[in-house]
Amino acid sequence: MKEKTGVAVLASGRGSNFEALARACLDSDYPAVIRVLIVDSREAGAAAVADSFGIECVAVDCGAKKGSMSPESSERMADVCADRGVALVCLAGFMRIVKGALMTGYRGRMLNIHPALLPGFRGLHAQEQALAYGVRYSGCTVHFVDEGVDTGPIVIQRVVPVLDEDTVESLSDRILQEEHRAYPEAVRLWAEGRLRIDGRRVLIREGE
Ligand code: GAR
Repeated sequence: MKEKTGVAVLASGRGSNFEALARACLDSDYPAVIRVLIVDSREAGAAAVADSFGIECVAVDCGAKKGSMSPESSERMADVCADRGVALVCLAGFMRIVKGALMTGYRGRMLNIHPALLPGFRGLHAQEQALAYGVRYSGCTVHFVDEGVDTGPIVIQRVVPVLDEDTVESLSDRILQEEHRAYPEAVRLWAEGRLRIDGRRVLIREGE
């Protein structure tokens, strides 16, 4: 059997997308394995999820500036990934802009999930932005990470309706259900070598 793709997940919060990926990896046919969870705070709920799955968790202090990461922390994360043979980095609710050594080392090998249909509603509070704008449909996007904020080439999008009675919470929950399907699917495609970036577009090769 082909060797599985080593994955690092980066998270700042509750960790439900990390959990969805960890669950997918329990399937012996799934082509990826999570080698490490990296959090920017030990308090992140994702750290407890890692414990429950027996996945190593490394906390890296990213510096005091909100939404940003220090050059040293980026280097440390790149080293943690390299030491564990990580081929693919997955941001899952990681609330800092990735730059520095991690960005350079993992360009084209780093994915993010965003709770809106990009390029609409980039950045923070995407579900709230969508609701306030009055769109009829929202959803989630898995995309490659580049230097911008939620700007990299798009791998997968899944759509959900916005209902008249929706609150930020109910819309977020509906989107989250789709996130938990889309992210494992995107990681599978990457691990199977079926994604090719062509400018802004990501071309997906048919599976065997
Ligand atoms: C998810 O909805 C994810 O799409 C979002 O944070 C949440 C994390 O939840 N990410 C962003 O907004 C990034 N711009 P989780 O910790 O339960 O996976």
